[in-house]
Amino acid sequence: MAQKPVEELSEQEAAQELERLASEIAEHDRRYHSEDAPVITDADYDALRARNNEVEARFPALIRSDSPSRKVGAVPSGRFSKVRHTRPMLSLDNAFSDEDVADFIGRVRRFLGLGNDEPVALTAEPKIDGLSLSLRYERGRLKVAATRGDGQTGEDVTSNVRTIGDIPDRLTGSGWPDMMEIRGEVYMGKADFLALNEAQAEAGGKVFANPRNAAAGSLRQLDAAITAARPLKFFAWGWGETPGSDFATQMSVLETLEAWGFITNPLITLTQNLNEALRHYRLIEEQRASLDYDIDGVVYKVDRLDWQDRLGMVSRAPRWAIAHKFPAEKAQTILKDIEIQVGRTGALTPVAKLEPVTVGGVVVSNASLHNEDEIERLGVMIGDTVIIQRAGDVIPQIVSVLKEKRPLDAVPYTFPDHCPACGSAALREGDDVVVRCTGGLICPAQRVERLRHFVSRDAFDIEGLGEKQIKAFWDDGLIESPADIFKLQRRNADAETRIEDREGWGELSARNLFNAINQRRSISLDRFLYALGIRHIGQTNARLLARSYLTLDDFLWAVTEAVNDPESAAHADLLNIDGIGPKVVETLLDFFREEHNLAVVQDLIGQITVEDFEKPLETSPVAGKTIVFTGSLEKMSRAEAKARAEAMGARVSGSVSAKTDLVVAGPGAGAKLKKASDLGVKVIDEDGWLTMTG
Ligand code: IVH
Repeated sequence: MAQKPVEELSEQEAAQELERLASEIAEHDRRYHSEDAPVITDADYDALRARNNEVEARFPALIRSDSPSRKVGAVPSGRFSKVRHTRPMLSLDNAFSDEDVADFIGRVRRFLGLGNDEPVALTAEPKIDGLSLSLRYERGRLKVAATRGDGQTGEDVTSNVRTIGDIPDRLTGSGWPDMMEIRGEVYMGKADFLALNEAQAEAGGKVFANPRNAAAGSLRQLDAAITAARPLKFFAWGWGETPGSDFATQMSVLETLEAWGFITNPLITLTQNLNEALRHYRLIEEQRASLDYDIDGVVYKVDRLDWQDRLGMVSRAPRWAIAHKFPAEKAQTILKDIEIQVGRTGALTPVAKLEPVTVGGVVVSNASLHNEDEIERLGVMIGDTVIIQRAGDVIPQIVSVLKEKRPLDAVPYTFPDHCPACGSAALREGDDVVVRCTGGLICPAQRVERLRHFVSRDAFDIEGLGEKQIKAFWDDGLIESPADIFKLQRRNADAETRIEDREGWGELSARNLFNAINQRRSISLDRFLYALGIRHIGQTNARLLARSYLTLDDFLWAVTEAVNDPESAAHADLLNIDGIGPKVVETLLDFFREEHNLAVVQDLIGQITVEDFEKPLETSPVAGKTIVFTGSLEKMSRAEAKARAEAMGARVSGSVSAKTDLVVAGPGAGAKLKKASDLGVKVIDEDGWLTMTG
């Protein structure tokens, strides 16, 4: 509906409109913050606020006490609604050498059971250093654009993306499916980046560290008009749902995407073998400096889509693709000091403090020295000139020391034998290279690090509660354990200095924080287990545990049982989980053996709901079943059979027990087959397995 220009509003109309806007905007704020379910786009929301401001500017006497403009200056960040990806947005495994690429092809061959002379055609294309984006089209029109986020859920940036010229709002050509999702990389050209930074500096605005950050900052603008003014570009490199199903090869999809109006990278080529792939890598590497966009490697993808399907994914990356990274960029600088950081598991990590230097377009002033042995191996002293390298997003490292440049006053470094944070003894256990603080939970550094891990992106993911805030709340005794985070609002009400009265905070930002915390009172079991920060329980192991036990109750029952009785079936079951080794089980049980850890967990559970793990493909005939493969398989490799079973929700075990539901036996099966028949476990052959799993 066309709006009446503000100049033409009567005073009465203006008053009515301000009343309507105040309640409408408040309602959208509520939906966004409390329900996490906004009903309008960011652009529409911004337009409402802009209209409110315009009317108020003309009729200042009518400004209401509940006016949204009174909250201005604190338009909450993170005003993007969430989009759940129908297929996860994956990352890529890396190859750092020609051998790594050869190994990759070897793995593909083995997985698919291909003969040595069967060619494996790969596409080879630049890896664009930008941000991945998912674009959903319905009947040829762009409906939703979302960032990658954590791979499962991203942010809705549709109105911003509509301003990017390379991204068609309507598809051209014909033959596109009714619904499809295209994926690719948003990036900023090098020349555009320099010009933008110059303009930003002149206007006193934010200067970006590199084109990638500039692209990210420009895409995540609350005001789409700002995005529109930024020179963002887009290369399509793949798809989520469809259109792959009607195509035979990766290459043919990309060609079709061009016909539908997308830009694909001109350096993509099809290679027939390792040598051709590596030749193309060198060619792209030679052109790297003269390209107008940053790239950080070459991506190879298995061209045949039926093979891609069979290969599937492992952890968070497809088995059918790999990123061959360019060698790290290097620079020379001076080591000014070595500082010790204490991690969440008590590890003492030496960090090199450097004379700031630019490496690959980024200013570096810290580098990792890993551990005590590394310092010894490098023979580095404070004051030395060192060579550092930086590859992609990884922390820069010191690779060598220019001993001939060593000044006379260089100081050798002695690794501490006490924790710098709590003074407890710091020891190396057995053949571990890591020196660890023995202070456990009395060490403030470990506790703060655990909290930081707890709220981090892959754990509870609490927006607005970062390292700085955790440290500040810790220092004031507001947050001492995970449960305290969920009691924060209450504790804050009784606190001496309330959060809203602190430097850098206000009513609104405090409210936003409490809202962000409240939104996370419900969490999936795998995230919960990961968040506890138990040594060796990273995301992969957390997921394996969640998948095995499905509910928190079952998990806690099992670990308690295993702690109390090492001979129990619960203990044996833990050790039987495929992918979880004895060392992991030991540290897991060590954790739950400690009374204070149990208390922390119980306290936390009182504040939140832990959702049951969602079994993948519940309806498949093997979902939830424990399967053992034995003997040789002829139609697929063992790896492929196992991956397929797991993708269909089964658990694959290495040994037959009373818990085994099914044994798939090929020729040459021996002891396991015998045990299965002794126990009365169902046995089928490979053909039976193929029929069962389609
Ligand atoms: S394919 C399942 N191709 O790299 C395959 N990714 O490290 C997913 N990227 O998140 C990625 N250029 O943002 C692919 N030509 C390219 C790419 C590319 C850049 C990014 C992408 C992805 C990340 C993984």
